[in-house]
Amino acid sequence: MFKLPALPRLPSLDDVVTEFDTVLRTLAAPATSGRAHPDAQIDEAELDEVEKRHAAGLMRVNHSGEICAQALYQGQALTARDPANREALRHAAQEEVEHLAWTERRIDELGSHRSVLNPLWYAGSLAIGVTAGLVGDRWNLGFLAETERQVGAHLQSHLGTLPPQDAKSRAVVEQMYRDEMGHADLAVELGAAELPRPLKAVMGLTSTLMTSLSYRF
Ligand SMILES: [Fe+2]
Ligand SMILES: [Fe+2]
Repeated sequence: MFKLPALPRLPSLDDVVTEFDTVLRTLAAPATSGRAHPDAQIDEAELDEVEKRHAAGLMRVNHSGEICAQALYQGQALTARDPANREALRHAAQEEVEHLAWTERRIDELGSHRSVLNPLWYAGSLAIGVTAGLVGDRWNLGFLAETERQVGAHLQSHLGTLPPQDAKSRAVVEQMYRDEMGHADLAVELGAAELPRPLKAVMGLTSTLMTSLSYRF
């Protein structure tokens, strides 16, 4: 028998108030980590000014990526039709908050600042997350999986260019990479659709633009 597709889940006022609170906390308050920071037991290395600025630029990019992750997971939570999916992704979303805390601290230790463009990345990612969610859970999850894979590729490239002696930044990036791959696998397990190749290419171009701007500003 013909079965109508499930309607999008419309967020309640409670949801909206909760998410608005999360927005303010994400952008304004320091994030905290339940797990120990991956670099907690590692000593600060000798870095010259150029190396320090480069490492800080990469950590700023990673921090902006985590701001986007907050927005995408919120979009997912606001629109997901299947409560089991929402629940399953809650743990991944919590790990994204920890990534935010790790990168925030590392930027501070390197004597630099977070991207001034973060509110813009946040708003854009939330709009994309909600739109993907309205199209359907499979597409929302597909978008999440592809984002996690692209973030993973960026993290891998950072490991190739971070100063070799900066073991603290490397430990943070390595653990984030492992977590992001776990998030991508989870989204696939939950039924993520494989996105069309042109959409993946657009996502890649957008993230290249975002990373080069966040590195500088
Ligand atoms: Fe992350
Ligand atoms: Fe992730």
